[in-house]
Order: sequence, then structure tokens, then C-alpha cells
Amino acid sequence: MIIESALDLIFRDLFYRLPAFAGSHDVFLKLEGFNITGSIKIKTAIELVEDLERQGVARPHETVLVESSSGNLGLALSLVCAIKGYQFICVTDPNANRSAIRGIELYGGKVIVVEERDPANGYLGSRLKKINEILQSDSNAVWLNQYANLANKNAHARQTGDEIAREFDRVDWIFVGTGTTGTLAGVSERLRQKFPGIKVVAVEPVGSVTFGGEPAKRNIPGIGTSVRPKLADLAKPDRIVEVSEAKTVAACLSFVRDYHLLVGGSTGTVLAAVQQLAREFRSGDTIVAISADLGEKYLDTIYDPIWVDHVIRSEDTEDPKGVGLEKTFALVAAD
Ligand SMILES: Cc1ncc(COP(=O)(O)O)c(C=O)c1O
Repeated sequence: MIIESALDLIFRDLFYRLPAFAGSHDVFLKLEGFNITGSIKIKTAIELVEDLERQGVARPHETVLVESSSGNLGLALSLVCAIKGYQFICVTDPNANRSAIRGIELYGGKVIVVEERDPANGYLGSRLKKINEILQSDSNAVWLNQYANLANKNAHARQTGDEIAREFDRVDWIFVGTGTTGTLAGVSERLRQKFPGIKVVAVEPVGSVTFGGEPAKRNIPGIGTSVRPKLADLAKPDRIVEVSEAKTVAACLSFVRDYHLLVGGSTGTVLAAVQQLAREFRSGDTIVAISADLGEKYLDTIYDPIWVDHVIRSEDTEDPKGVGLEKTFALVAAD
């Protein structure tokens, strides 16, 4: 394989078959973490920027593109902006991944970290206030607004959803982790065209407000929101599954042990949700789940027992003594 651009490194037909992952059912995990910049968000980034170009709003070497991101979209946008010649500012918060921030800066982007949680709307509220300040002070600045931009949904209808539709003759269940809900809205739009009976499952962490949950502090970036994204109006899931952060950690650890792939936090959340619904699957069902990124960037958090002990276990009400997690860490360590 000879590539001509870093953007040729998007792997569109990569599915990991997980034998008997949910009871007796195989699950197909669509792997997005091998893409350039390490996540599904490279597709969103390309579509967000090209959509502005098509509208004549973005002009290279003049326009400053601004976005709020906890890491993955920021990194993807910084690469796309570097290739196309745009300045890029990423507004983020202390939950963001340090290596993503370094990567954004290396590609030439600027990173602004908000330190305070907005009393009403959490870190996301603070990030949005900061973006507003930037837009007021720089007339060349344009906010991509992944939370409301239809181009975010379209990226996943035209790309992610279509890639799944081309791979399978039948899909009965699709599990999608939700942040902006762009992936959920786009993938479900495309898959419902080809598979009208499909059940679309939105997966959220406990404490995320998108589908009506009570707001609560969350520690794992990439999934969930503290302000309901506008795109969620277009995402009409058949089912909503909430997963605690403790269950996410346990799912990540057991996946490494059983399937030998270090997956990211949102993937663990999605995998836990698949197992939560396992009893509802019927014989012959095709079950697909989306893995948005890999786990290397979470080695100091989700995969660090000390971090988990301090941050997750102390907040986890379902597993107050952390017995489940302790057992899982012990099993992984024993291998
Ligand atoms: C790792 C990871 N998983 C899931 C998501 C959620 O995707 P979406 O914003 O399309 O809902 C994101 C979004 O940033 C992410 O970075």
C-alpha cells in the first residue's frame, strides 16, 4: 500500500469479530482507532472543514477555525487545518488528554484550557463561553460547532454508516457511544435506509444529560455531555443505555485480557452496553458496535489502578468498595 497523504490513512472496512461476546452472540466491533490521529473524528474533521469551504465561508491562510474538543476532534482538526492551511484554536478542559494537546500544538494548532466548571453547564459551558469571547474578538474566527453542525451528522451518514452498510447484508443492532451524537445521528440515518428493522442503541455514561439523565461529574473524556447537543434532536435511538464509569473501566480491562486490544474509554462503555442488552438478542441477529478510539492515551487514567481507585471507585455508588474493579485488575495483572 502506497499512500499520497496522511488522510489516506482512514481504514473504512476494519471490523473485529468478537466470538460469543454477548452470550452466544458474536459482535462485530468497527475499529476507528487505527485511523490517522487515532480516532473516528478524522472523518468529522474533514467534513466540517470541507462543508465550510463548499459554502465559501472558510478561506485558507485567512480564516481561523475554532472548536471545543476534549482531544480527538481537536487533534483531527489540527491535522486537517495544517494540510489545508488554516489557523486552528482548540478550546478544551482539564479532562482533556495531555498527549492530544501536545499533538494539536505540534500540528500547529493553539490550545486553550478552561479551568473552571460553569456552575450550570459544567466544563462544556465554560468552553462555549470561551469560544464566544474568541468570536467576538477576531472577525476571521469561525466556530465549527460540532454540537449542532449538520456536517458532523453527514460525515457519519456518508462515511461510517455507509461503511457498515457495505460490509453487512443484515444488521439487527447497532451500538453507538454518544458525545455530540453526530455519529449516532449519521450512522442511524444511513443504516435505517438499508435495514429498516434495525435497533439503534445510544450509549451514554451515567451523569451525561443528552437523553434525559441527571447531570453528574464524569471523568472519562470523549463520551457524554453536560449540555444536550442540538444534533441530538436528529438522533432518534430505539434504546438508550446508561453505563457507570466503573463498568466502563471493567469492560476495558476485560477486553484487553480477552481480546488483546487496548481500547479507549468510549469503546469500553459501548461494550458494557452490548453486554447489558445481551439477553434481548435473538438467534441469527447481527450485532455491530463502534469503537471510536484505542486505549494508549488512557494508560494513565482508565488503565491505571491508582487513578481508578481515586477517581472512579470513590465516586461509584454501585460498587462502593470497588470489589469488581479490584478483581478485574487482579485478573489482568495475573496474565
Ligand atoms: C473516543 C470518542 N468516542 C465517542 C465519541 C462520540 O462521538 P460523537 O461526538 O459523534 O457523538 C467521541 C467524540 O469526541 C470520542 O472522541
